[in-house]
Amino acid sequence: MKRFLLLPLCALCLAAGAYAQEAQSLKDAYKDYFMIGVAVNQRNISDSLQSALVKREFNSMTAENDMKPASVHPAAGRWTWERADRIADFCRQNGIKLRGHTLMWHNQMCDWMFYDAEHHFVSKDTLFQRMRDHIHTVVNRYKDIVYCWDVFNECIADGPRRPDANGRDQPLRESKFYQICGNDEFIRKAFEYAREADPHALLFYNDYNECDPVKCDRIYTMIKTMKAAGVPIDGIGMQGHYNIYGPSPEDIEAAVSKYAEVVDHIHVTELDIRVNREMGGQLQFSHNEGATVTDEQKHKQEAQYAALFRIMRRHADKVNCVTFWNLSDRDSWLGADNYPLPFDRNYQPKPLYRVIRDFE
Ligand code: G3I
Repeated sequence: MKRFLLLPLCALCLAAGAYAQEAQSLKDAYKDYFMIGVAVNQRNISDSLQSALVKREFNSMTAENDMKPASVHPAAGRWTWERADRIADFCRQNGIKLRGHTLMWHNQMCDWMFYDAEHHFVSKDTLFQRMRDHIHTVVNRYKDIVYCWDVFNECIADGPRRPDANGRDQPLRESKFYQICGNDEFIRKAFEYAREADPHALLFYNDYNECDPVKCDRIYTMIKTMKAAGVPIDGIGMQGHYNIYGPSPEDIEAAVSKYAEVVDHIHVTELDIRVNREMGGQLQFSHNEGATVTDEQKHKQEAQYAALFRIMRRHADKVNCVTFWNLSDRDSWLGADNYPLPFDRNYQPKPLYRVIRDFE
């Protein structure tokens, strides 16, 4: 190897070595509060440095994409398990719990689930049968290692209230599920099928912008109403796609407190805090390409992460897991220039890592 390449590599190894000698990991620091999770891709579990970092720091994992409907069930009767199996096997081999993400979602879900041969929407009953087949097959394959499922992801609409003919707010995203059913029955059925398939797994409803007061109230009302009707919902997933300017600690605190009224389990499921002003799980966003992250932005990010973890520690009676969405800035769906995570693009801990770990 050329001499000029050796130096940076040695520095990286020294830094990694020095880091590896640090007092404790994130999961150790939070062992009396909640699990610390991470969403992974295939490289994170196959690369030696990255997989060592996953094993050292985390005690819960989520497949970022590889367990989603389109990834495992691309066509009726056709299953593609290889990538999801690799992640499940990594968890089995390393004693790490696995969050199942996600059984049902309007995105990354193949159209075959919704249409007949003439490309017309199928009947509600046909849709439910297809949903049941998917959910039972996936849950039964991984029930030995998956301790909880995001049963449905992102059913609630963003934005201001939309009164229907009776003046009542229509809270649901108008997905293909909703267009076929005309109400929230598809959500209820999904939880029913997941409970049939695994009587023990915790069943979550998962969404983004979950601290927005209007959306928070919609989620709260839906969960409260469904649970009162006997729908087996155990928890709410707060995705946690935030930025350095918001949500405010007050809004986060208000949302956690409200959700804690209706469920016994709250997970922060997809935590990342980007340095620009966008937030949420929407797919249109700025990757912040080429932007230089200022010291002020770094300090704001540290303050936002510190506030979030302080709130979650305060609610540790209900908060059971906080999962970072991606292992490092390099892996982030937001792009490394959004600088969203405690580990930088070279898998080295930022000062932010110690702000999160070394809380008072
Ligand atoms: O697998 C294809 C590959 O074959 C192709 O070459 C490549 C380029 O087009 O695309 C690859 O698929 C991409 C996939 O990630 C796997 O990398 C999709 O284009 C891309 O859209 C997809 O993005 C994922 C996104 O969900 C999809 O909605 C992100 O990685 C993932 O982090 C993100 O995660 C979601 C959560 O599941 C739910 N909450 C919101 C969150 C952010 O959107």
